[in-house]
Amino acid sequence: MAEVALTLTGVAVAFGALRAVDGVDLSIPAGQRRAIIGPNGAGKTTLFNAITGVVPPTEGRVVFEGHDITHLPPHKRAALGISRTFQITNLFPSLSVEENMVLALRGLSPQKFSLFGSPDLSTADQDRITRALRLAGLADRSATVVTEMAYGDQRQLEIALALVATPRMLLLDEPAAGLSPSERSIVADVIRGLPKELTVILIEHDMDLALGLVDYVTCLHEGRLLVEALPADIRTDARVQEVYLGKPHHA
Ligand SMILES: Nc1ncnc2c1ncn2[C@@H]1O[C@H](COP(=O)(O)OP(=O)(O)OP(=O)(O)O)[C@@H](O)[C@H]1O
Ligand SMILES: [Mg+2]
Repeated sequence: MAEVALTLTGVAVAFGALRAVDGVDLSIPAGQRRAIIGPNGAGKTTLFNAITGVVPPTEGRVVFEGHDITHLPPHKRAALGISRTFQITNLFPSLSVEENMVLALRGLSPQKFSLFGSPDLSTADQDRITRALRLAGLADRSATVVTEMAYGDQRQLEIALALVATPRMLLLDEPAAGLSPSERSIVADVIRGLPKELTVILIEHDMDLALGLVDYVTCLHEGRLLVEALPADIRTDARVQEVYLGKPHHA
């Protein structure tokens, strides 16, 4: 049996009376590519926040590679190998690609960065940055300032930032949102080219993109797990059609 990377047991996140995530059980084998789909407000990002510790679960248990991380702060979860990108762009626009990478690697704010200037990088750190940029399709872009980059390249940089810590599990929250078809296909190639041993969880509204990239699909609805299925079976699932596509599907 495949090793399990992540196990959620009865995970709930309540905001007052709203149960944004409402008792989710999930098990993700190591190295699997998993899509999380579901309509707006289904609880997908909140589930990522519960896994990464940005918003800790109010109920349930999160276990990553055998460690109970339910109550750990985000930086401790990151140190165990969990990394994520955000649905909203999260870059320092006036800095270069390389400078953004250094900040991510060191966990620094731009203020501290400008106080200390551009620090000398160890060979190991430089190698990590080079590898992450190559995986994200941005080799040779390290000197480019973020404001000079196309939006698609900026989304690739966010993936590079998430990879620089050499995570064992990567959570991507709508990495292709707002991109043109050609930019989307580049991001898809980046995701396809990620190391096989890396566990990847992908939130994506574009079904064509998501289903072409993953081994298995979880559909959330109103904070609950609605369906888990192979990509080939998701489109024809009546429950998915009803909630995700908004209406029953007529071929
Ligand atoms: N910090 C918060 N405080 C209060 N309510 C929140 C908070 N974050 C999310 N919610 C609510 O929780 C529900 C789930 O939101 P979430 O962002 O997880 O959905 P989503 O599936 O990621 O949606 P989308 O596809 O639009 O990104 C929504 O009703 C949202 O308004
Ligand atoms: Mg979201």
